[in-house]
Amino acid sequence: MRVGIMGTGSYVPERILTNNDLAKIVDTNDEWITTRTGIRERRIASDDEATSDLAFKAAEKAIIDAGIDKNEIELIIVATMTQDHLTPSTAALVQDKLGIKAAAFDVSAACTGFIYGFTAGYSFIKAGIYKKVLVIGAETMSRVTDWEDRGTCILFGDGAGAVVLGEVETGGFLASHLAADGSGACELIVPAGGSRKAATAETIENREVYLKMNGREVFKFAVKAFPESVENVLTQQNLTADDIDIFIPHQANVRIIEAIAKRFKQPLDKFFVNLHKYGNTSGASIPIALDEASKEGRFKKGDKIVATGFGGGLTYGSILFEWSK
Ligand code: UT7
Repeated sequence: MRVGIMGTGSYVPERILTNNDLAKIVDTNDEWITTRTGIRERRIASDDEATSDLAFKAAEKAIIDAGIDKNEIELIIVATMTQDHLTPSTAALVQDKLGIKAAAFDVSAACTGFIYGFTAGYSFIKAGIYKKVLVIGAETMSRVTDWEDRGTCILFGDGAGAVVLGEVETGGFLASHLAADGSGACELIVPAGGSRKAATAETIENREVYLKMNGREVFKFAVKAFPESVENVLTQQNLTADDIDIFIPHQANVRIIEAIAKRFKQPLDKFFVNLHKYGNTSGASIPIALDEASKEGRFKKGDKIVATGFGGGLTYGSILFEWSK
């Protein structure tokens, strides 16, 4: 049985925050942000929007795109690092909003979360446990962003993307690689608000409830981990980078994407980029990119696609699949 993407959908909040807007909040400027990252603007959720709201809107579109009845969905997986609450899962809230009967759980693998969720969804179908699985990547990064830290607040944005996985006639899933290196946990971390350090007046005062990142270390990790993961899925299928029609990289920094294109001696236009519009939306970046690339007509039936994520954990991973629609 072939398992693949039946439909995609995405949703980004209406509010746009430009680099010039950020220059009014912290000591930065459009030129620095654009040249160091490629990001020009990002979307910010409204006060009454949480991750499950963005996830729900992306999910509804993916279900319509797949041309199925929402009641056919048997499992919902939400990849997020900005869940509505520590508990319940954001996936359970999406299940309720969709008004369907389905199992639901969250995946915590930061910017690699969608790659982990996709692989889990594929495995549930391949094992014969469920027939159709909704995999969503959704984030409201603006809620864990330290708006006083120019090293991080210029990078992140809010949004959600979703895919419906199910049996497809041609193409579909070919390979997956998932990896974690917890020794690098401190490089990208929200120190407080969990069981290690509760959210107390003191941790809030110390701004430990916000995301801390060692940008240079994460950059170094990304340019090493990304090619390793791509090589892994290519080798599983005896393919080379030349056989890949389009790469869907995690949208963190255009300099990372350029370094990877160079490393594989591939033209940059084989790498889908939309980070100039949305910044880094963590677990949502790959499914938003998949949906936009699909809607822009970038995929043809039979195209070989590699999507690669990297980030907090540290985690990294790739999926290799053939476009089935
Ligand atoms: O999805 C999770 C994965 N995360 C990532 O992929 C992030 C990976 N890292 C990066 O993308 C880059 O490291 C950053 C974009 C975060 C930073 O770029 P960088 O080229 O590594 O800059 P840097 O941290 O080495 O800082 C260079 C200079 C510093 O000044 P000095 O020490 O040279 O005087 C910073 O203080 O730039 C300064 N700087 C800024 N200047 C203006 C740092 N942030 C800013 C800013 N505006 N926003």
